[in-house]
Amino acid sequence: MEQPSAPSQAQAQPSDTAVLPRQRIEPPRPEPVIPMDPEWLASLQVMQPLYGKNLRPPSAVRGLVSLDNPEALAKFNVTLKVFAVVLPAAEVSTYFARLGKLHLNFPKRRNALPFPGDPQRRMIILFYAAPQDTPLVGEIPTPADEFIPQLPAGEMADSMRDLGASANLVVFGVQYTVDSWNLEEILTAVLPVDPPASFEQVGHVAHYNLRDEHLPYKTVVGQATMLKFPRLRTIVNKTHNIDNTFRFFQMELLAGDNDFNVEVKESGCIFRFDFSRVYFNSRLQQEHWRIIQGCPAPNVACDMMAGVGPFAIPIAKQKCVVYANDLNPVAFESLLVNAKANKVAHLVHASNQDGRKFVRDLAVRILASHLSGKPNPLPAFTQVMMNLPAIAVEFLDSFMGIFGEEAEAEARAQQPTSTLALGFRDVFKVLPVIHVYMFTNAENMAADAIARTSKHLRFPVDDHLVKVHDVRDVAPKKHMFCVSFRLPEQVAYANATEAASLSAVAQKRNHQESAATDADVVASSNAEDDAQNKRARLDDEQA
Ligand SMILES: C[S@@+](CC[C@H](N)C(=O)[O-])C[C@H]1O[C@@H](n2cnc3c(N)ncnc32)[C@H](O)[C@@H]1O
Repeated sequence: MEQPSAPSQAQAQPSDTAVLPRQRIEPPRPEPVIPMDPEWLASLQVMQPLYGKNLRPPSAVRGLVSLDNPEALAKFNVTLKVFAVVLPAAEVSTYFARLGKLHLNFPKRRNALPFPGDPQRRMIILFYAAPQDTPLVGEIPTPADEFIPQLPAGEMADSMRDLGASANLVVFGVQYTVDSWNLEEILTAVLPVDPPASFEQVGHVAHYNLRDEHLPYKTVVGQATMLKFPRLRTIVNKTHNIDNTFRFFQMELLAGDNDFNVEVKESGCIFRFDFSRVYFNSRLQQEHWRIIQGCPAPNVACDMMAGVGPFAIPIAKQKCVVYANDLNPVAFESLLVNAKANKVAHLVHASNQDGRKFVRDLAVRILASHLSGKPNPLPAFTQVMMNLPAIAVEFLDSFMGIFGEEAEAEARAQQPTSTLALGFRDVFKVLPVIHVYMFTNAENMAADAIARTSKHLRFPVDDHLVKVHDVRDVAPKKHMFCVSFRLPEQVAYANATEAASLSAVAQKRNHQESAATDADVVASSNAEDDAQNKRARLDDEQA
């Protein structure tokens, strides 16, 4: 790449240039329309704010409903007229100094461009677009008094008068095509309404939450997205709320292949799954990573609603044993595939059942495996993930008496011949930390999250809190929270009678409290849903 060097004192003397014979330079042939090359394009796009209105697709594209034909694409062509100084290659440095701030100057970029048809000369593009009605005059020998008054800025016109004998000013056209505009520019020009703000990407699939007013243009939105992001192969719109148990979307294909088998990289692992049949949200990446980092070996994780494994697989990659469960059989299959693909199948114990039953059965199985006396019994879990924010908090009742007398008796029943005097206290030496996710729209969100955790655990968690984390906003005034707390001994080891009395106390407390209940959150969400547009609703549900 050609880089102008800093002008030397000697080069900067006007007398150096004045000695060159002045000559008329013929306009470049055939037309002074210069085909766009990617490097120029990049430079010119950086200039966009300065070029203002000149730089946008022509108004003829407004209202297009499809981009699948050459005629439609040709409507995006426009010739941008720019000023440039053409000068002998040897004088580039001098002119960079002389033009001061008037020219494009990007570090590590070639700012002096080849002049078409003459290897001895260069062009320096100026920071000014010619008015669109300026004829493509080719080159104007400077000083061109009749032309200079048309220049848009006084400072530039003055500089042009002093250009010196060897330089010329040119107005040339730069051809913009549909390839030159970015997605936002295309959609802003085509749609008579504000374009969709953005799309989410999962592997090769882009998914939109289009508003009703976008629907007449959904095809063009899909096609433009494919055009500008060639790596995307499938563009969809989410059509229905997540109302199924497994939390995946109903989708409508807007453009590309009807193929939802994606591969995603997250937290240093590969995940393969059918995005049309399982839940996955790339916006949770940071939250996944937060929990993963807090769960190094020798922790043992238990993910009650594991999906395709964005907590489970990376935690196993940290050499931890992981118990991972999901009720969706397709998610369960993906868990197995992903454990294998990431070479952690020996550490991931996957299951496919309801989360409540899973965690209680697991506790019993762990104790039973210790009672068996066999080497390498199942290790006790130290951290539990519950990410099903719409209802996970309700699953906390499964921890009531999870290590109680009844559970111990069940484990013994599984190992009737065992003579080992082992109980849960010997195996679960430290009580696990539980991370439970929920949505809240209360005024005091953290307090609400804690109150609801306590309510469903049927025990106040205040003295057992590890962290209350505001994960993200999912709609205006509605956030996803994660309450992390250490399972209280009174809950874990409660026998049936104690469990019943804790439930009664909790019920009484809940009656007295006027704090937001789960029903409140759901009810007010519904009201919000009615009032808000579809996009906010779907965003919320996607969380
Ligand atoms: C919001 S997703 C979270 C998945 C994953 N943990 C993540 O962070 O991406 C909730 C998951 O819970 C699963 N699920 C729904 N009901 C369940 C239940 N009763 N027991 C276990 N899993 C359930 C769904 O299939 C879904 O994969």
